[in-house]
Amino acid sequence: MAPYELRWGILATGWIAEQFVTDLRADPSARGQADIKHTVVAAASSRSADQATKFLKEQSWSNAKAYGSYAELVADKDVDVIYVATPHSHHYQNVRLCLEANKHVLCEKAFTVNAAQTEKLASIAKDKGLFLMEAVWTRYFPMSVQIRELIQKGELGSVFRTMADLSLGEDVESKFGTEHRMVKMDLAGGALLDLGIYSLTWVFQTLYHTLPAAERKAPAVSAQMHKYTKTGADEHTSILLSFPQGPSGAAYAQGIATTNLRVSSEPAKQGTSGPAIRIQGTKGEIQVDHPAYRPSRWRFIRADGSKDEYENEMAEGVRGFAYEADEVARCIRDGKKESEVLSLEESIVIMKVMDQAREQNGLKYPDKLETLDYPIEHW
Ligand SMILES: NC(=O)c1ccc[n+]([C@@H]2O[C@H](COP(=O)([O-])OP(=O)(O)OC[C@H]3O[C@@H](n4cnc5c(N)ncnc54)[C@H](OP(=O)(O)O)[C@@H]3O)[C@@H](O)[C@H]2O)c1
Repeated sequence: MAPYELRWGILATGWIAEQFVTDLRADPSARGQADIKHTVVAAASSRSADQATKFLKEQSWSNAKAYGSYAELVADKDVDVIYVATPHSHHYQNVRLCLEANKHVLCEKAFTVNAAQTEKLASIAKDKGLFLMEAVWTRYFPMSVQIRELIQKGELGSVFRTMADLSLGEDVESKFGTEHRMVKMDLAGGALLDLGIYSLTWVFQTLYHTLPAAERKAPAVSAQMHKYTKTGADEHTSILLSFPQGPSGAAYAQGIATTNLRVSSEPAKQGTSGPAIRIQGTKGEIQVDHPAYRPSRWRFIRADGSKDEYENEMAEGVRGFAYEADEVARCIRDGKKESEVLSLEESIVIMKVMDQAREQNGLKYPDKLETLDYPIEHW
């Protein structure tokens, strides 16, 4: 049987869009997915059609159509699904544009600026019978699947704690100044929404997602932030999450999710710093090395001292985005409206954690970013 072909439209042509469409070129059968196929049929740049043409040519998708506005892309009848690759400040407006035009959507992380926006998008997708998913690529890596399975099989015993850090170690003033999207309030900058989402991903995929769906409960949240004096965005955030129940019979579980722009989870970048993530159970622990978004390696250490070491191996020609793209293709082919690996419900619970962390520390983005109003003027 011919593989199911998913036809992608790419909304925005920045850094992550380049990474994503490169992965779509790799042959899915080389990673055991011979039943699906990805094609980029169009891309749009808000700058100009020429920019979209340049992007497609550089990424070897020259046959795809190039548009100079997002509105033209969402009107393209040949596009099945749109990958939204704008800064997260714009996700709510951009995803709504796609959904209102009856397109399925894969949206980059962080899903939106706040949970209310994600809830609104989820409700529109549901009403219209459209597929919608947050592009947290890490969740779909083979190593993430393997780690979740080890926890679910009880190999770690009762899992009481996960500590997860994603910290960059940058000279914030010289690297980001005041205009870079990492620190600019108008682009929903800050460590939490950009990097902390990965620390939270590890807490959630180990302590929350591993429970049967009916038993998953939102955690209590306590957070501290330190803000970058030049813009007011958070440069250091630490969140303590307390879950009423943990995997494999744990009577509770705590997650510690941290992120910092100035210090690094792996300063020497030589694998000498120890794990960035520790998932701790009564029979052993899993350690995952930096960076949390695409870990280099991991190990399972049992209480008896025995240890298995693993590399985070990717299929040939794949940086890692192909796995989430495969999930989107399979879901859409099978008529699913969301992914079981990262459901809309779980994305919303995580967004609520980030809302609480911001609220406890007085971090509010400009009203035009936090609003549910649509459409509003782009900025
Ligand atoms: N999954 C991951 O590993 C990963 C890694 C990095 C970033 N991300 C996420 O991907 C998103 C984009 O990040 P990026 O690093 O690709 O950013 P980027 O290089 O700045 O690209 C963002 C693109 O969005 C479009 N855009 C539209 N309005 C804009 C505005 N007002 N300001 C800036 N850009 C605007 C532009 O494309 P056009 O001009 O072509 O419209 C721009 O090139 C963010 O949500 C980020 O959190 C994910």
